[in-house]
Amino acid sequence: MSTQDELRPTLTTEAGAPVADNQNTETAGVGGPALIQDQQLFEKLAHFNRERIPERVVHARGAAAYGTFTLTADVSRWTRAAFLSEVGKQTETFLRFSTVAGNLGSADAVRDPRGFALKFYTEEGNYDLVGNNTPVFFIKDASKFPDFIHTQKRDPYTGSQEADNVWDFWGLSPESTHQVTWLFGDRGIPASYRHLNGYGSHTYQWQNEAGEYFWVKYHFKTDQGIKNLAQDEANRLAGEDPDSHQRDLREAIERGEFPTWTVQVQIMPAEDAANYRFNPFDLTKVWPHEDYPPIEIGKLELNRNPDNVFAEVEQSIFSPGHFVPGIGPSPDKMLQGRLFAYADAHRYRVGINADHLPVNRPHATEALTNSRDGHLYDGRHGRRKNYEPNSFGGPVQTGRPLWASTPVTGATGTHEAPSHAEDDDFVQAGNLYRLFSEEEKQRLVAGLAGFIAKVSADRDDIVERAVENFRKADADYGRRLETAVRELRKQG
Ligand code: HEM
Repeated sequence: MSTQDELRPTLTTEAGAPVADNQNTETAGVGGPALIQDQQLFEKLAHFNRERIPERVVHARGAAAYGTFTLTADVSRWTRAAFLSEVGKQTETFLRFSTVAGNLGSADAVRDPRGFALKFYTEEGNYDLVGNNTPVFFIKDASKFPDFIHTQKRDPYTGSQEADNVWDFWGLSPESTHQVTWLFGDRGIPASYRHLNGYGSHTYQWQNEAGEYFWVKYHFKTDQGIKNLAQDEANRLAGEDPDSHQRDLREAIERGEFPTWTVQVQIMPAEDAANYRFNPFDLTKVWPHEDYPPIEIGKLELNRNPDNVFAEVEQSIFSPGHFVPGIGPSPDKMLQGRLFAYADAHRYRVGINADHLPVNRPHATEALTNSRDGHLYDGRHGRRKNYEPNSFGGPVQTGRPLWASTPVTGATGTHEAPSHAEDDDFVQAGNLYRLFSEEEKQRLVAGLAGFIAKVSADRDDIVERAVENFRKADADYGRRLETAVRELRKQG
C-alpha cells in the first residue's frame, strides 16, 4: 500500500461504519446466493432506486448559476422594495434557464421558449421572478394551461409529440397566434442561455413608500447580444451535443466570462390601466415601447456555478408567489393561477420543507414562521414556540400589506378577460410579422409550414384553422403559409 493510499479516508455505510468490501457481494459459499446480512449491498441498491425525484412537469430540463443584481437607477418613486432602495445596492441572485416541453434528458438546442427563473435573495425575503425569454405567452387564462401543455408533451397513445394535437389546440386558441409567431421566428431557437433576453412577461405591481402603486413589466436584455440557431444547425447540435446550452453556461463562468444582462422596466401609472388601448394584464400582449418606454434600472451578472446540480438546480424552487414588500401581483389571470401552481408543485416534487434547502432558503434574512415538522425537517427552530400569538417573544406580524389593494367591480363568474379598444387576438401578431425582415419571414413561414404539414392527411380542418389564425394576423402571412403548407402536403 502506498503512503497516499494510507492517507485516504475509509469508505463507510450511511451509518458511518467502515465498509470492508465494496467489490464483492456477500454470498453463501463461493459462487452461492447472496445473504440478507449483506446490509451494505441492500443500502446501496435501495438508495440508488430512490435517486430521482419527480422532474418538473414543465421546464424539466435546465441549468442555473448564481450571480449578482446591481441597482443602477433610483426607482424609489415606484417601489419601496428594500433591495431596490439605493443606487449601487447589490443582491445575490440565482437564475435557472430551461426549455419547456422536453423531459429532463432532452436536448437543449430545440425550438421552444426558454425559462428565465430568477431568485433575488433580498433582506426582506426571497423575491422570485419566474419568466421566459419571450415577452408574451400562448394563452391568457390559467385554466387552459394543463390542456396546452398536454398538446406539447407526449400523446397518450403514440407516446410522442403530435403535430395534430399541437395545431388542433393552437388553431382553436387564436390568442396563441402572437406567441407562435414569436416562437417560429429567429429567436425561437437561441444559440445558448447567454444569448437570450429574459422577460418577467406578466404585469406586476410596484408600490412606493407613500402607498401609490404602478404596473410594471421587466426586461433583461442580454449584453452578449442575441444569437440564434438556424433550424438545421439546431437539429445537428441537438444530436451531437444535447447539453450544448448547459455546457456553454458552465464553461463561460469557469473561464471567468461572466454573462450580464441590462435590466429595464416599463412603468404604467395605475390610472392608465382602465383605458389603455390593450388590456395591460393580458399575457398574450406586449406594451409597445412607444407607449411605455423601457427604463434602465440595473445589471444582472452570473458569476458562480452551482457545485451540485441535483442539490442546487434540480431541487431549486421558484414561485411567482414569492413577493417582497413593495412588489405584488396584477390581476392577470395567468399569473393568478401560477400563484397557486408553483408552491403546490414544490410540495409534491421536492417536499414540504423544500424552502429549507440551502439554495431555496433566504440568504439575506431568516425565515421566521410557525410552520414545523414534516418530512426531513431538520429541527432548525430548536425549542422556539410554534404558535402565535404568544407571550414568549415570538415573531409578530407587521400589519402592513406587502402590496397595494386594488379596486374591483362586478359579480363573481367565469368571465373572459376584459377587451380594451384595440384588443383582438391578431393585431400584435400581425405587427410582429411585419417587423420581420424578408429573410426572417421566409424562415418563419418555412418553419411553420414544415410543422403544420405534419398534421394527419385526413385532418385538413386542423390545418385550415391553424392557417386561418395567421391569415387574420396578416393577409400576406396567411397567403404564404397556405401555399407552403399546400405544397408540402402535396409532396406527402
Ligand atoms: C397558468 C399558467 C402556468 C402554470 C399553471 C404553470 C405551471 C408551472 C409548473 C407546475 C412548473 C414546475 C414548477 C416546479 O416543479 O418547480 C412550472 C415551471 C416553470 N414555469 Fe410555468 N406555468 C404557467 C405559465 C408560465 C408562464 C406564463 C411562464 C413565463 C412567463 C412560466 C415560466 C416557468 C418557468 C421559467 C418554470 C421553471 C422554473 C424553474 O426553473 O424551476 N410558466 N410552471
